[in-house]
This record gives sequence, C-alpha cells and structure tokens, in this order.
Amino acid sequence: MKLLKKISLGVVLVLIAMQFYSPTKNISPGNHTQIFIKETNPSPQLKALFETSCYDCHSNNTAYPWYNNIAPISYWIGSHVKEGKKHLNFSEWQTYSIDKKDHLLEEIEEMVVQEDMPLTEYTYLHSNSKLTDEEVGEIVAWVKQTRIIYQLGKQPK
Ligand code: HEC
Repeated sequence: MKLLKKISLGVVLVLIAMQFYSPTKNISPGNHTQIFIKETNPSPQLKALFETSCYDCHSNNTAYPWYNNIAPISYWIGSHVKEGKKHLNFSEWQTYSIDKKDHLLEEIEEMVVQEDMPLTEYTYLHSNSKLTDEEVGEIVAWVKQTRIIYQLGKQPK
C-alpha cells in the first residue's frame, strides 16, 4: 500500500507539472484559406462547413476549446492538428502541385463518403461538425466539378 501511495503521488505531481507546458498553438489570424477558396470556389454553405468541420485540424488556424488548457488533452489535440495538417492543409493549398490537389480532392470525397472525416472523437465533442447526407452530397458534387478544372490544367504526359 505504501508503494501504491507513492506511485499515485508521483502521477499527480507529473500531471501538475504538465500543466506548465503546452504545445505551441496553431493560430494564424486573417484570411488564411483565401487561395483555396478562390481556386476551388465552394458555395457559401460549403465554405462554412469546411470552417466548422475541417479547419481545426486541416488549416493554420485552430479554434481551441477551453479544455485545450488542460494537459494532457492539449497534447492530444496538438497531435491531431499536427497529423491532420501534414496530410492536408487548406491554408497552404497554393504549395501543392495540380496532381496533388486533384488527389487530395479525391481523398476528401472518399473520407467524407466513408464517414472517416471529421474524426469521430471530434464530432463527439463538436456535434455541429458532423456531416449530414445532404452535406456529403454537396461535397461530392463540388469535388467532381473542381477536379475537372484541375484535370484540364494538367500537363499532357
Ligand atoms: C480532429 C481533427 C480532424 C478533423 C476535424 C478533420 N480531420 Fe481529416 N485528418 C485528421 C488526421 C489526424 C488525419 C491523418 C490520419 C488519418 O488519416 O486518420 C486526417 C486525414 C485526412 C485526409 C487524408 C489525406 C491523405 O493524405 O490521405 C483527408 C482527405 C481529410 N483528413 C479530410 C478531412 C475533411 C474534408 C474534414 C472535414 C469534413 C476533416 N478531414 C476533418 C484529422 C482531422
């Protein structure tokens, strides 16, 4: 029992110490996805949907919930954002080649149709981020339309 007490105290001390450290926040004010929006021309509804359901993990600007101030939740959120941005960053759309943009659009369609995105952990905590069938349909239509533009712009091999 004495050992168990020591271990519990150790865990509590580590948790307290962790509160003094938090990952660097992913914040960039202003119109950080302007180029993506201009280029892919989503409807106002889709634009709003990306903001509520995707940008927290796939852009340079995350709207952090209050519980991000608590470690280790802050680390957990931080790693989702880092991982999400690595795969797809709407704020850096201009840095992708036409082939990559076309491929990412294909992936976006796949992810939302299969209900893999937004992540379940996220929709659980942000109920308004869950996509309706109608919204998925809108994304699919927008992907089709936008991919045609990118495919026309592709260089012949
Ligand atoms: C809570 C964070 C989070 C949210 C919100 C989120 N994603 Fe993701 N997304 C991730 C992570 C983490 C990965 C990488 C690991 C994986 O595939 O599970 C990812 C991967 C992806 C990929 C795969 C890219 C590739 O290279 O294969 C696509 C596409 C994607 N997300 C689209 C979306 C879209 C569209 C939305 C909004 C409808 C969205 N995500 C919302 C965290 C998120």
